[in-house]
Amino acid sequence: MAKNLFQFPNGFIWGAATASYQVEGAWNKHGKGESIWDRFAHTPGKINNNDTGDVADDHYRLWKKDIGLMKRLGLKGYRFSISWPRVLPMGRGKVNKKGLDFYSRLVDGLLNANIIPFITLNHWDLPQALEDEGGWPMRSTAEAFVEYTDVITRALGDRVKNWTTHNEPAVVAWLGYSIGEHAPGLKDHSLGVQAAHHLLLSHGWAMSVIHSNSQNAEAGITLNIGWKAAASNSVADLKLARQDDGQWFRWFADPVYGRGYPSDMVEFFTKMGALPNGMDFVQQGDMDVISTPTQFVGLNYYARQLARANDADNSPQVISLLPKTPENWTDMGWENFPDGLTGVLGRVYFNYQPLKIYITENGASYSTPPDENGNVPDVQRINYLKSHLAAAHRAIQAGVPLAGYFIWSLMDNFEWAHGYSQRFGIVWVDYETQERILKDSAKWYRTVIKRNGF
Ligand code: FCB
Repeated sequence: MAKNLFQFPNGFIWGAATASYQVEGAWNKHGKGESIWDRFAHTPGKINNNDTGDVADDHYRLWKKDIGLMKRLGLKGYRFSISWPRVLPMGRGKVNKKGLDFYSRLVDGLLNANIIPFITLNHWDLPQALEDEGGWPMRSTAEAFVEYTDVITRALGDRVKNWTTHNEPAVVAWLGYSIGEHAPGLKDHSLGVQAAHHLLLSHGWAMSVIHSNSQNAEAGITLNIGWKAAASNSVADLKLARQDDGQWFRWFADPVYGRGYPSDMVEFFTKMGALPNGMDFVQQGDMDVISTPTQFVGLNYYARQLARANDADNSPQVISLLPKTPENWTDMGWENFPDGLTGVLGRVYFNYQPLKIYITENGASYSTPPDENGNVPDVQRINYLKSHLAAAHRAIQAGVPLAGYFIWSLMDNFEWAHGYSQRFGIVWVDYETQERILKDSAKWYRTVIKRNGF
C-alpha cells in the first residue's frame, strides 16, 4: 500500500455525528414528551417548507440498520445526542423507561460493533415543559439539567466514557432566545444572555455528576467556532470581527477556561440593552463552577465569516471575496475555507490549553442526488473533507492534541430552520422510502479510516 501523505496519529478517532431531533423521528412514540423543537416545527412558518422532525430519518426504528452502516464505514466513534424529553418527558421527575432503554440498546449495539459512543446530553431539544417555566433563561432549567445528567449517566455511565454536556450553547442562546430563528423562537437579548449563563452553569454542575457516575470518563463541552476575520483593515471591520468572535466564541470559552466573561463583551451587551439589571443572574461561586476542569473541548468548524461594518444595522455580514462557485460556497451559503480549521485549532490550543480537542463537527451541505446507477458522486463534499482533514493534520503537526474528527453528518437529516433542503450526510437518505445509500464521500471516508490517513 502506498504511503499516506497525511498520516494521522495511532488511535485517532474517525467518527461521524448526528443529533436526536435531526434523525430520530418518533416524536411522540413510547411516552416521549414534547420538545421545544417539536413545538417550533409544528408552528407554521418557522421552518423552511414547514418541514418537521416528526419522522426525520426514522432512526428510532432503524437504529440497527444505521449501526450496520457505521460498521460498513469502519467508524471508530459515533457522536449522537439524547433527547431529554424522551427520557424525562416533563424535564424532571418521572423517567420514561422505554426512552432510556432505547439509548441503552443503542449503546450496546455500538459497543458490539466496536464503535465508541460519544454522547451529547443537550443538542437543543429541551423539554417543552421546562420551556413553559421559562426555559434556559431560568436557573431552575440548569438545575433540571443536572437531574437529567444524573439519570443518564447512572444508566449508561458504565459503558459510555465520553460525555459532552452541551452542543453549541451560543446557538441555543443567540438563535433560540435573542434572534428567534431557532426554537423556542424568542427575540429578547436579555433572555439570550441569561440563557447563555445557565447553559454554562449547568455544564459546570454536570461535570462532577458525570464523573461520579461514570468512572474514568472524559467530559467536556462542544463550542462552535468560525474563522472570524475582518473584510478589510478598516478599524470598523476589525472591531466588528473581534466583537463577532466575542459574542459567538469568547463569551463561552473564556468562562469555561476560568477567565470569566470577557469585559469588552459585557460592555457591548450593556450598550445593546441586554443587561438591564447588570449581571444580576450571576450568583456567588457560579464562575468557579463554570470553570470546573474538562478533559477535552469539542469544536464545530464549518466556515470563515468575514465582518464588514458598513451596512445599516452594523451587524456582521458574511461577505464574499471568492467567486461564487460551488467549490467556494456550499449550499448553505457557507464559505469553504479549510485554512480556518488550522487557524482555530491552533488558536484554541495555544490560547486556552485544553488537554485534548475533538473536531465534533465539520462537513458540507451539497445536495448531489443519486445518478442513474444509484451512486451519489458528491465530489465537492470529498474535496471539502479532504482539504479540511489536511488542515487538521497541519494543526496536529504543529502540536495540537487533536484526538478525533467527526463528520457532520453520518446521514442527511433535518437541518433545523432549513428543514430537509440541506443535505450534509455522507449517506444519502430517501425521505419517502427511508432508503440509505453510501455517497462517494462515505466510500472515500471508509478508505481514509482503513489507512488512518490519505
Ligand atoms: C451545527 C449543528 C448541527 C448541524 C450543523 C450543520 O450548528 O450543531 O446540528 O445542524 O450545524
